[in-house]
Amino acid sequence: MKSLSYGRQWIDENDIAEVVNVLKGDWLSQGPVVKLFEEELAEYIGTREAVVFSSGTAALHGSVIAAGLKEGDEMLTTSMTFVATANAALYAGAEPIFADISKDTLCMAPIKAETKLSRKVKAIVPVSFAGYPINIEPFRAMAKECGAVLIEDACHSLGGVRTDNGGRARKIGRDADMTVFSFHPVKHITTGEGGAVVTDDAEYARRLRMFRNHGITRSAGEFEEEADGPWHSEMQMLGFNYRLSDIQCALGRSQLKRLGMFIGRRRELAEMYRSMLADEEGVCLPPSQEGHAWHLFPIRVGADIRAALFSHLSENGIRPQVHYLPVSLHPYYKRRFGYKKGDFPEAERFYGRTLSLPLYPSMEDADVERVVSCVKSFFKKSKAITFRRAPPLYGNPENVSERDSRRASLYMDGRIAQNRECRYRIGHSTD
Ligand SMILES: Cc1ncc(COP(=O)(O)O)c(C=O)c1O
Repeated sequence: MKSLSYGRQWIDENDIAEVVNVLKGDWLSQGPVVKLFEEELAEYIGTREAVVFSSGTAALHGSVIAAGLKEGDEMLTTSMTFVATANAALYAGAEPIFADISKDTLCMAPIKAETKLSRKVKAIVPVSFAGYPINIEPFRAMAKECGAVLIEDACHSLGGVRTDNGGRARKIGRDADMTVFSFHPVKHITTGEGGAVVTDDAEYARRLRMFRNHGITRSAGEFEEEADGPWHSEMQMLGFNYRLSDIQCALGRSQLKRLGMFIGRRRELAEMYRSMLADEEGVCLPPSQEGHAWHLFPIRVGADIRAALFSHLSENGIRPQVHYLPVSLHPYYKRRFGYKKGDFPEAERFYGRTLSLPLYPSMEDADVERVVSCVKSFFKKSKAITFRRAPPLYGNPENVSERDSRRASLYMDGRIAQNRECRYRIGHSTD
């Protein structure tokens, strides 16, 4: 049986040919292909600059350094993200602080972010979780108010489109001071590992390029001291080797050509899930929005049955994933900053119920049907078991395995809570 993971790359013969071309050429790293990939990425997004990095994490690190984040500063972000977002602040010696999510978007809630603002906040980093194109205007206003740099972590949303308050649609990547993407294999395009920062600001781009190359510049116009000769280069800041190679950029260029198709297929698959699961009352569907990039398809189910559904899918060759344990609840963050359960209730509530179903562009319609029927069979079985086990009305509990009956009763509890959450999602939210 074909195994379906929550995400995977799609490599075709053209991708392979482009990489082989570079392997046969003169430059494996820092040759002409890096620049070409940067130019094409910037053109695709519509920004003046794109600076590629060895990972999305490195790109985030670069962006906070370019923003000038340092010890004593705070970086405001969401706890419902991959740890790399928050860790970027720590790399710069600053402190990440968190605002809870909105249950309507699963992204940082502006109303909660506002309460965290202070003069110490020097960067605001919203995350377009799962590919949902959040409204960035409130965060831009907050950044302006406290003199912070706005950095969008768009590692989930390359190719997504955002419509602003005036009804204008623009690709994600044009609304913040800097926007960060990841090219990890489960993302919209891949370079194996890789990432990028896009920006319209030439000074940010200059710092980003220097930072990813040990803090070294070879541009005569940037030298602080007189050049010793044509070989002269200067290290002007502490940087890292965060470069992306020509080999990787060749793959990136080739993948970028198919990004439109990848996104289109992700949207089709998400729509299939949405319509096929619409009548499954145990499942709460992820928020949808025009321009969604659909990196993930995170459903919510009853908290007490999530693990059983996870196992049921795994036993049937479907490998879901859970995104994410809130950053604040990782042992390192709890130990270092004293976070505890209950600090970010919406994020924790979401974490307790969510499970990401397989979603990647090379999935076939039949793959989605298989996942959906597996989800449905789980709920059907759980309900049947519940009826059989409940004594004295529904028969003999001996017929049911201990594990199954536990699953079933837990499901019933979870479903009640789940319905409550769905009602909120539709109309009762204030954030
Ligand atoms: C929201 C978010 N930010 C940052 C990263 C880090 O990207 P990378 O894995 O390319 O380092 C990820 C990776 O999954 C992510 O999901």
